[in-house]
Amino acid sequence: MCGIIGYIGYRKASEVIFKGLRKLEYRGYDSAGIATVSGKGISAIKDIGRIDDIHAKRNFLQLEGSMGIGHTRWATHGGVTQKNAHPHTDSTGKIYLVHNGVIENFESLRTSLSRKGHKFVSETDTEVIAHLVEEECKSAPDFGKALSNAVAKLTGSWSLVCMHQGEEAIYLSRNGPPLILGIGKGEMFCASDVPALLDYTKRVIYIEDGDLVRFTRDSYSITNGGKKAERKVHTVAWTAKMAEKEGFAHFMLKEIHEQGGKIREALAADVSGAVALLRGQQNIAVVACGTSYYTGLVFKQLLQSRLSVNCDVIIGSEFSYARTGKEKVVVAISQSGETADTLSAVRLAKKSGAKTIGITNVTGSSLWRESDACVNIAAGPEIAVVATKSFTSQVAVLTKIALSLPGSSDNLATLSEASEAIEQILARSGEIEALAEKLVTHNDFFFIGRSLSFPSALEGALKLKEITYLHAEAYAAGELKHGPLSLLQKDVVVVALAPSDSSLPKIISNMSECRARDALLVAFSDSDEAIGKSALSFRMPSVQPLAIPIVYAVPLQLLAYYMAVKMKKDPDKPRNLAKSVTVE
Ligand code: G6P
Repeated sequence: MCGIIGYIGYRKASEVIFKGLRKLEYRGYDSAGIATVSGKGISAIKDIGRIDDIHAKRNFLQLEGSMGIGHTRWATHGGVTQKNAHPHTDSTGKIYLVHNGVIENFESLRTSLSRKGHKFVSETDTEVIAHLVEEECKSAPDFGKALSNAVAKLTGSWSLVCMHQGEEAIYLSRNGPPLILGIGKGEMFCASDVPALLDYTKRVIYIEDGDLVRFTRDSYSITNGGKKAERKVHTVAWTAKMAEKEGFAHFMLKEIHEQGGKIREALAADVSGAVALLRGQQNIAVVACGTSYYTGLVFKQLLQSRLSVNCDVIIGSEFSYARTGKEKVVVAISQSGETADTLSAVRLAKKSGAKTIGITNVTGSSLWRESDACVNIAAGPEIAVVATKSFTSQVAVLTKIALSLPGSSDNLATLSEASEAIEQILARSGEIEALAEKLVTHNDFFFIGRSLSFPSALEGALKLKEITYLHAEAYAAGELKHGPLSLLQKDVVVVALAPSDSSLPKIISNMSECRARDALLVAFSDSDEAIGKSALSFRMPSVQPLAIPIVYAVPLQLLAYYMAVKMKKDPDKPRNLAKSVTVE
């Protein structure tokens, strides 16, 4: 949902910002822009398209100066046009800003500013903020006060990075979307996310909602509600190398390949805080979106079927309608820790007195800071827009939590075989690539699973639709006969997940029903019978039931990846999507 960045120091600002924007491009990639300040004043380059393409056409590095701001966009207000790209400026061309978020009252602000003579060149909510700051500058004693007066008039969500001609300082305001300050030696940075800064510093401050920040090349000050605010300086554990492709063709492929090792790290997570809050609870609510929602379904099944603890998994954006309001403990699962729908649910739950547990990959994220207890899934930076390793690491952590609760008789050691099984599958990637070659001409895909393989089926269908744009949906295998069977015919693909657990006989019957309707049956299974029934198959390693959700997700990630590559789609940056969804 847009990546923003700012820099002041001794380096060429356009270079730092350009490199940083490439690291933030997963947040949005329909247009981008940079503005820098030099002796000649403020100059900007912005255009539609991917950052590298804009650079090839317009050369960002011609922008001089050692202070600047940049933005990569995921359009909300106004189409994908050069004029709507950020940075935006005021009537004088002396104030420049970039914005992540949505200003809900921008229409009324725009109308009142227009009456005062302001002329707008874009359709964006962001441009309105630049003009509002310009207006406030007329009466405020300094730029900081003008900015704070302006943001006091905004409703909605924003992270703003703002600079103006005549002062060597950058100003920030946060209300919602993430923003961090990076502290270097003789240079300072700000960005939406840590990977943009890893080449320069690991010392960061997580800016909080309501914070107004002014920073120069060697100092910073933070106020909140007009009062000076102290914020802890964190040292991030991630390295710049972790956020590189490291020889893989795409981040998605690299992240798929990291999973064997990452599961081991996830299993070592400290879950004591979460377990302490969950112990003795008989009703647990889980809130999450996208892939994280599916890992919540695994957690639910473990809690309900193995521990007889009731668990309700609610999609973040539905929480306010579906909750009882009496939840005592809410588990929020979010790779980024910044998903707006999940965070709103957490805030609502807290207001009603619930304790919250955050399961996230980003220490220091909003979810991390706002939860009563946190677990770090330790998957390392996930850059591809679609989730892969965060799914398997979340499942590993959630399984560890479930198994640490009273009443559990399962042994976590059975999960360590998941890492080995993943390595075996990855070593046979060529077989999945060959399968992708055979499936790439088909248009409709149903993924079916039962019990612990059902969340993996959901995840497999999501991966395929996200990066190939083919129609793919998942069903609990027993549901096919209640509707979807009517869609089955020759050329429709049914991908069946058929591990040899107690659900096998039933899913084999469901597969027969699909075959009888001429669907192209593709089995992912360790059962001879299931494989024998199918036109195409991938023999899975045999694993204990607890490892099924993790192990069965991996070949489906690879299948989606290879199909996308064969279809010449970019698996790292699917159209219309963004990794961190910071608007509701
Ligand atoms: C976006 C991403 C998905 C992700 C979802 C939830 O839609 O594209 O990959 O699963 O957000 O993200 P979270 O960071 O909360 O897990």
